[in-house]
Amino acid sequence: MILKAFNVTKRFGSLTAVDNLSFEVQKGQIYGIAGPNGAGKSTVYNLITGFYPYEGKIEFDGRDITGLPPYRIAKVGIARTFQIPQTFPSLSVQRSISVGSRFGAPGGLDPAHVNEILRFVGLEEERYQKTGLLNLLGKKKLMIGAALATKPKILMLDEPMAGCNATEIKSLMDLIRKINQDLGITVVIIEHFMKVLTELTENLLIIESGRMVCCDEPVKVANDPKVIECYLGEDHAGGK
Ligand SMILES: Nc1ncnc2c1ncn2[C@@H]1O[C@H](COP(=O)(O)OP(=O)(O)OP(=O)(O)O)[C@@H](O)[C@H]1O
Ligand SMILES: [Mg+2]
Repeated sequence: MILKAFNVTKRFGSLTAVDNLSFEVQKGQIYGIAGPNGAGKSTVYNLITGFYPYEGKIEFDGRDITGLPPYRIAKVGIARTFQIPQTFPSLSVQRSISVGSRFGAPGGLDPAHVNEILRFVGLEEERYQKTGLLNLLGKKKLMIGAALATKPKILMLDEPMAGCNATEIKSLMDLIRKINQDLGITVVIIEHFMKVLTELTENLLIIESGRMVCCDEPVKVANDPKVIECYLGEDHAGGK
């Protein structure tokens, strides 16, 4: 196991956003998280990456990381992207990826690694372009590239396909597979597209109101009556 959450709970005032949640991600896998809007998915990432204090415990790579601040979490090898692409619009693509390289573990800024990443995510030709001028797919690749620049052991993606058309989705799916297979990085992905999750993931966790509904192979999850009731609806049964 590379990531383990034990009875994690997060309250915002009277709202319990994450409610006694436990789950395990195996090293090398692509692990999916889905659930209705407001289920607590992004909050789970915010807890893992040290944005808020919480009850319970999180272990990463055999080590207790509960309560570590975000910069320490980046150093242990956890990288994430955000639901809304966040870039520095006036920086070039290359500089933006260098920022990730500077924050990562270990060794600091590494120009050769930045070049490798530009090639890997397919942004070589846009390297001197200002990030504000990238199209949606470009911005998504940049966010993933900046996360990869920290040399993570695990990459956590928050709805990377949001707003994308079918061609862009395919391109991002190919990139995510390559990150997992060629770079050997464990991937956790929050996504609403069930088809993406059934094709990409080995395990899928469904949460609703901060609680686990089920966790299994994606095809089983997509046919689970509890999941169809709370999240998918009849039309989606079978992972369509
Ligand atoms: N910093 C915060 N302060 C107060 N409430 C918050 C905070 N962050 C999240 N919440 C609340 O916690 C609940 C879970 O939010 P979260 O963003 O984790 O959901 P989500 O599953 O990612 O939803 P979506 O699919 O819409 O992205 C929501 O009710 C949200 O309003
Ligand atoms: Mg979210």
